[in-house]
Amino acid sequence: MATAPPDASRPVIIVGSGLAGLAAAHEAAKAGATVHMLERGPKPGGNSIKASSGINGAGTQFQRASGILNDTSDLFRNDTIRSAGFRFQTRKEAATGNDIDRESLVDTLTKSSASAIHWLADEIGVDLTVVAALGGHSVARTHRGAGKTPPGAAIVTGLLQKLEQRPEFKLHTSARVTQIHVDGEGRVRGVRYVQKSEGGREGQQPRRENQEEEPKEEQVDLYGPVIFTAGGFAGDAHGQLARYRPDLAGLPSTNEARPGPHGLMAGVGAELIDMDSVQVHPTGFVDPSDANSPYKILAAEMLRGEGGILLSPQGRRFVNELERRDVISEAIMGLPQPATEQGIKQWDVTLLLDPGAIDATAGHLGFYTFKGLVEKKKVKDLDPAVIETVDRYAELVASGRDDDEFGRRTFGHWRLVPGEANREEEVCVGRVTPVVHFTMGGVAFDNKARVLRRASDGGALVPVSGLWAAGEVTGGLHGDNRLGGSSLLECVVFGRVAGREAAEAAK
Ligand code: FAD
Ligand code: SIN
Repeated sequence: MATAPPDASRPVIIVGSGLAGLAAAHEAAKAGATVHMLERGPKPGGNSIKASSGINGAGTQFQRASGILNDTSDLFRNDTIRSAGFRFQTRKEAATGNDIDRESLVDTLTKSSASAIHWLADEIGVDLTVVAALGGHSVARTHRGAGKTPPGAAIVTGLLQKLEQRPEFKLHTSARVTQIHVDGEGRVRGVRYVQKSEGGREGQQPRRENQEEEPKEEQVDLYGPVIFTAGGFAGDAHGQLARYRPDLAGLPSTNEARPGPHGLMAGVGAELIDMDSVQVHPTGFVDPSDANSPYKILAAEMLRGEGGILLSPQGRRFVNELERRDVISEAIMGLPQPATEQGIKQWDVTLLLDPGAIDATAGHLGFYTFKGLVEKKKVKDLDPAVIETVDRYAELVASGRDDDEFGRRTFGHWRLVPGEANREEEVCVGRVTPVVHFTMGGVAFDNKARVLRRASDGGALVPVSGLWAAGEVTGGLHGDNRLGGSSLLECVVFGRVAGREAAEAAK
């Protein structure tokens, strides 16, 4: 083990290079700290780079420019708490310090949402001018760009470009943190990581078939305040997911397979909360060329927000497509399930977009079409039951009446008219199924992004000295169901807080 350097020269150590880590790095470097970012994968970006619908903000200039004038942080807060469900009924416990202060975390998230959007747009230069309504939100508040680059990739690359200009920032890829160093008083002092050499980087093939290189690994110890931004465990099917939600076995996932980091943190006393709150997103694409893959590309929720509808195997609508995710997933799982193949549990639901929704989501559809996940069809070539449903729905939208049957309140950009006039028009269809997507549970934390542990008398939650966390690795903020668009937001809001706090501690 390396000898710990004197305190004055200690860097801020960030574990994980998704959005929470990058936001933290940006603030820590801006505050003058040297930043070492450790990433187990061969490339930075984590799940953040795949984010496809956008980031929430209430009361932004982009909402106003789109004619949305009635959004406030209070409305957003109420939506978040309604969506979070039963986990928020623990106020007494929070008052005694036995639980995290969920309401104040939600206050921070929602009150900081507009400034998070403006920080990304004005300081980092990310296009977030387009706003869509996602499930469970009272108004359209999920921001993305107008071009082809999905929001996660736009935000991650924007931040990386800024960070690369800072000499204080050092990114180590293929660097897996395996241990957190604590001193005799339980204070976090640094980490140990395993650095894979070029030839042994994760995901890379040996250079020549007959000249296999042994992966070279080196153990390195690094000392300084530690920020964990190592993501959730929705891709840890046989580890944490099997432990906390064995009932989800067999459901495919939108997350790449990787072990959850929570055990590592629990090892230094971090309290884990809500670990059984796992989000099943209703729409992962079933790729016709690899139907039984346990990994699915997400059919972004904004496809429904911008006008898409969901159809049962019988070609009927069966749910408000803009309900909360848990409600829609449950509705799909209540439909007849085709026989399970290769242990993968999936359903047979069609996502259908009319020409209005197609135009509004063209940037995304280009990618999905390229991947063979959706196809265009003329209305006249659809199943007769589907034509009937499309006509009924088009009639409803055109009439301006309420959707009495399922309660959908906004119809996005749907413009297809009912009846014979639509038969030559093209719609877009793809098969979708519920997918494990996000883990609401994680390490307990507070408004200063400090990781919390149970005090030695077993009572209140108190900070673990030297350890911060932000992003999906944390738990409690979203209760039992996260609203779409709020994960990127939590990464920015609490990542930035963690970066500033740890930089201060590094001084
Ligand atoms: P991540 O971005 O997952 O980054 C964590 C990183 O830590 C990873 O790169 C991982 O390799 C690394 N790591 C883990 N363990 C270690 C270790 N021991 N040592 C070193 N490195 C480690 N949310 C939204 O708000 N809006 C969206 O539109 C949206 N779309 C999504 C689309 C998809 C397909 C997916 C999968 C998720 C989406 N989400 C969306 C959710 C959101 O993207 C994630 O919850 C969020 O990006 C998590 O960010 P993070 O920084 O906490 O973790
Ligand atoms: C999606 O695009 O549907 C995912 C959004 C999210 O998880 O917040």
